[in-house]
Amino acid sequence: MAQNWTPTSWRQKPISQVPDFPDAAALAATEAQLATYPPLVFAGEARNLKKALANVSEGRGFLLQGGDCAESFAEHGADTIRDFFRAFLQMAVVLTFGAQQPVVKVGRIAGQFAKPRSSNVERQGDIELASYRGDIINGIDFTPESRIPNPERQIMAYRQSAATLNLLRAFAMGGYANLDNVHQWMLGFVKDSPQAERYRKLADRISETMDFMKAIGITPETNPSLRETDFFTSHEALLLGYEQALTRVDSTSGDWYATSGHMIWIGDRTRQPDHAHVEYCRGIKNPIGLKCGPSMTADGLIELINILNPANEAGRLTLICRFGHDKVAEHLPRLIRAVQREGKKVVWSCDPMHGNTITLNSYKTRPFERILSEVESFFQIHRAEGTHPGGIHIEMTGNDVTECTGGARALSGADLGDRYHTHCDPRLNADQALELAFLLAERMKGGRDEKRMLVNGWA
Ligand code: PEP
Ligand code: CO
Repeated sequence: MAQNWTPTSWRQKPISQVPDFPDAAALAATEAQLATYPPLVFAGEARNLKKALANVSEGRGFLLQGGDCAESFAEHGADTIRDFFRAFLQMAVVLTFGAQQPVVKVGRIAGQFAKPRSSNVERQGDIELASYRGDIINGIDFTPESRIPNPERQIMAYRQSAATLNLLRAFAMGGYANLDNVHQWMLGFVKDSPQAERYRKLADRISETMDFMKAIGITPETNPSLRETDFFTSHEALLLGYEQALTRVDSTSGDWYATSGHMIWIGDRTRQPDHAHVEYCRGIKNPIGLKCGPSMTADGLIELINILNPANEAGRLTLICRFGHDKVAEHLPRLIRAVQREGKKVVWSCDPMHGNTITLNSYKTRPFERILSEVESFFQIHRAEGTHPGGIHIEMTGNDVTECTGGARALSGADLGDRYHTHCDPRLNADQALELAFLLAERMKGGRDEKRMLVNGWA
């Protein structure tokens, strides 16, 4: 491993999942332009997230990470962002209640545009075209022109990320996330769902406690943690030219930070220790995620941890495990034991989506019961090993889509065609996401009451 890291040192390494840009000069010009644009996030915010994740790694908190598989230019709008944020806040409040611990809220949003693909080509009938790689690279339409990688898309993605982040900051800090609004976060289509009654009951208990606290002088006006929340952004750091252009020195610490999002992660297909994506990520100081699929060996994991977190800093590294409901019991214990044996500080998070994708009626889908089963196994295994099940990482939307089967409304294979809108992998709809949060909260419960959550703060 080269000792000298620079924002460009990844360019000397082998790289996977890299798009074939036909015009190298145009790509270089776009990257040079992006390098002059303002950062999207600040180093201090990334450090705050790292501190929050350090607490999670020590068993004092829970990470909720979720959002689209791939954001798209077509679905960019205030309603989509608001509905996602509402569904996410609902999940967070349910989990805070269940865990009686702070929930660290990290969206897969405001930058989640680039997609690794299992095949370089996509075939429809007799026609074969280059695969869609996310709106930051090429277009989803099945035409030869649309599939040509176009660097201009990076500028669009940057601007969309900035606008999305602006609205999210306003929602998080401007009053929308005030716990007094806990009843209003319910989305229209969730209102008559089986989750609605449960959520209403929980919201009533929170309101009652808020009334009690107001009576003794603790109000959202006097206590910011009741009216604001910390919300962070994340995405897969796949398109390294874009990441490099937004890599900046933090003037207070002199360290390099990715300023495209607070947390970035390395995908399961690009985590080769001597390749470009690991090289880029080792040098920036943000909290980073590492996807761990079934092919991750215990030795391979320790090697990656040593590269990515040589100082063994708590909060730096989140291991996002995505084995599949039928494989988690085989793979997770050996990784946990290796990490424990080596004394490595990590956050253990469960991605129950990417190991549970199947094809049904020619749609890619994920059965809700398999998602749930992987999460449950993840919890049980950690309990048995004496380690902290620190978080979940899910693909979800606030929209009323029909992409994953099952859940309380028992979506079937025949329903998938109704509202199947994802640009990449199937997402939980708001109803299913809330149901998952309630089921998780039940697992985390252990005889506490709501007051502790409010006293500890919502942020
Ligand atoms: C993803 O998170 O969308 C993804 C591609 O995951 P993985 O790298 O785990 O396959
Ligand atoms: Co995905």
